[in-house]
Amino acid sequence: MTAFLGFGGYTPEKVMTNDDWAKLVDTSDEWIVQRTGIRERHIAADDESTMTLASEAALVALNDAGMTATDLDEIILATDTPEVRTPDTASFVQHRLGAREIPSFDLGGSGCAGFVTALDVARARIAFKPKTVLVIGVELISRMISPKERETCVLFGDGAGAVVLGPEGGTAELLEVVGGTDGAMTGILTLDVGGTRRPFDPATPDGYDHLTMHGTEVFKQAVHRMSTATAEVLDMIGATAEDVSLVIPHQANKRIIDAVGRRLGLSEGQVYVNVDRYGNTGSASVPLALWQARTEGRIASGDLVLLTAFGAGFHWAAAAIRFN
Ligand code: ACO
Repeated sequence: MTAFLGFGGYTPEKVMTNDDWAKLVDTSDEWIVQRTGIRERHIAADDESTMTLASEAALVALNDAGMTATDLDEIILATDTPEVRTPDTASFVQHRLGAREIPSFDLGGSGCAGFVTALDVARARIAFKPKTVLVIGVELISRMISPKERETCVLFGDGAGAVVLGPEGGTAELLEVVGGTDGAMTGILTLDVGGTRRPFDPATPDGYDHLTMHGTEVFKQAVHRMSTATAEVLDMIGATAEDVSLVIPHQANKRIIDAVGRRLGLSEGQVYVNVDRYGNTGSASVPLALWQARTEGRIASGDLVLLTAFGAGFHWAAAAIRFN
């Protein structure tokens, strides 16, 4: 089995409201709330980085598990906003936490689906050889967006979430994970510069040096893929929407979350929402929400909790968890 031994999360102290954005770009609190449900987001301080956000969340998860970093056998870190281009952020986090010289690697580029996909990888690694695995979703997107893209910049926030997984014990069991990819739409949501196709160049044409997105297409795909993946994972465990205690969807946009809930026939109380307070935190969104839902007492003993996520690629994934 794959057991959840600890949950953790971290968001930077600084809060940026919609009114703060309206001072920088041509937007308003009314537009952002109406279109997205977002009211504020957390923004990393200058002395914070992807590594520090990830490490903070990891320490909370380790503490929750009653463990220290030296108990870990592996670290898997999902992010699209790494500490540096090479090496991966997991290397920085392994050192920062004081973990042993254990395998540590990033799952990069899966966008907001990264963390749930990483759960599946961890599950396979634990099945192959019983071990304790730290899985982190982290994003420092505020440094990768441009005020020139008003449709995009107001959506995002910084944060990290983490879980400690093991072969037995803990407070919950990972029952099943499904996922998929459709690479036909790579250009719809992309940070185009920095790879071999378009190496970084200070003379990069305007509009290609930061995250760009076709919002309407992303919206449609997010609703379709997250609801289909959730239905698929439910089917795999032989459950129906009525059996679900809580769905924790990727927190991109309240309208996307509502549409997914409607398609699955879920009541409002069955769907967790914190996008109003944090915006879209990419790979961090699902583990952060999972940690908060548990901290806020939204998850009880015996609950069936589903995670569902969608991101650049396009990639999508859903997972089913049973709490003890
Ligand atoms: N403030 C004010 N007006 C704006 C802003 C802004 N920040 N951004 C765009 N507008 C304007 C547009 O210019 C347009 O004006 P026009 O009608 O004069 O041309 C108008 O608002 C409507 O724009 P639409 O694109 O039609 O607005 P829509 O209702 O589709 O909402 C949004 C846009 C919020 C981006 C929506 O498409 C969306 O949420 N898409 C999903 C994107 C997403 O979540 N991406 C995150 C990454 S992927 C993921 O996590 C799943």
